[in-house]
Amino acid sequence: MPDNTRRARDEAFWQTFADRYDLQLGPINLENGYFGRMSRTVVEEYQRNIELINRGNSVHVRQRFEQGESLKIQAQVAGLMGVPAQAVALTRNASDGLQSLIRNYNRLQPGDQVLICDLEYDTVKGAMRWLAKHRGVEVIEIEHLHPASFDSLLASYRETFARYPRLKLMALTHVTHRTGLVMPVQAIAAAAREHGIDVILDGAHALGQFEFNLIDLGIDFAAYNLHKWIGAPLTLGFIYIAPERLADIDPDMSEMHFPVTDIRARTPYSTPNIPALLTLPLVLEEHHAMGGAAAKGSRLNYLRNLWVREVRELPGIEVLTPDDPRLYCGITSMRFTAQDDQQAMVERLLSEYNLFTVVRSGAACGPCIRITPGLTTTAEHMKRLVTALTELR
Ligand SMILES: Cc1ncc(COP(=O)(O)O)c(C=O)c1O
Repeated sequence: MPDNTRRARDEAFWQTFADRYDLQLGPINLENGYFGRMSRTVVEEYQRNIELINRGNSVHVRQRFEQGESLKIQAQVAGLMGVPAQAVALTRNASDGLQSLIRNYNRLQPGDQVLICDLEYDTVKGAMRWLAKHRGVEVIEIEHLHPASFDSLLASYRETFARYPRLKLMALTHVTHRTGLVMPVQAIAAAAREHGIDVILDGAHALGQFEFNLIDLGIDFAAYNLHKWIGAPLTLGFIYIAPERLADIDPDMSEMHFPVTDIRARTPYSTPNIPALLTLPLVLEEHHAMGGAAAKGSRLNYLRNLWVREVRELPGIEVLTPDDPRLYCGITSMRFTAQDDQQAMVERLLSEYNLFTVVRSGAACGPCIRITPGLTTTAEHMKRLVTALTELR
């Protein structure tokens, strides 16, 4: 058994890991997809950096942060992605990055088409629809078949590319926040490339949940945050632009603080959360030390399978996310098929079983309950979830 698979089921190891986090007593949190916790050592480092920057003020920031610290941090983020430092610019979150990429993509002509699907994040849908008004393009919106398979997802993109020859740009979500479905990004990006369609990848939920390489995926434009599965303080994200494609994204609203050849011109210039950025080296050190995305992803998949395996075949329950290992990660959604109101079921999960979950709607296949274990979730928590789902169905 590979090390990560063995470690994923080692409750004693994960208990030691969980001991590094301060947790408030309360419901069992199965809504870890919103953002991740910082470890206690990261919180302490963050607090030290708040005090450091508060004391040093602009003297520290002008003399040290702007003169080198920020570039080192940019290089470390690029290192996390296995890409050159000049391919990465820091942002406040994934949304800012995605909006910058979509707003500044400069290869669209009036009459071109752009593509979104039902599983995209609403901010991304909004930004792509914004292009219709401001670039004169037509937005093509597709809905994926449910239940999805690797082949059905790829086929629906292939058919769409063939049907709409004026498509030039598409959004693609690596892990949809609605059902946790992992898109076959590499195959879809390769098909898009055959049709000359550029892909902007929303990687918000992917980073830190499993390993990937943007170059292997064939992705030239992507945006991420660092506060979901990397464990950084809130307010940190970044964009990736393949260096040879930099000219296809304009400087943001004629941003002039950096030369046109510098990726940092592609995002709005502003005063960032400097203490949070200064904390990032420790965050990345801890992420790597515990085995990175491979270790985190194995654990999350293990926890996910503990509950999915027990309830998938039960009458009254539909697990929306497939079991094809290429298409799932820790986040998985289900619904009670005999109930109209999934929100009422979320409330019962909380009041009767002390389990905190969330309803996600917006997917063409209907509303669902999203269940996201985290790195401090235990196998016992999953057992309680199985009991709750079995009884409530
Ligand atoms: C799929 C997806 N895209 C984008 C975002 C936005 O990320 P951020 O909160 O970093 O702006 C989220 C946030 O949950 C998300 O789930």
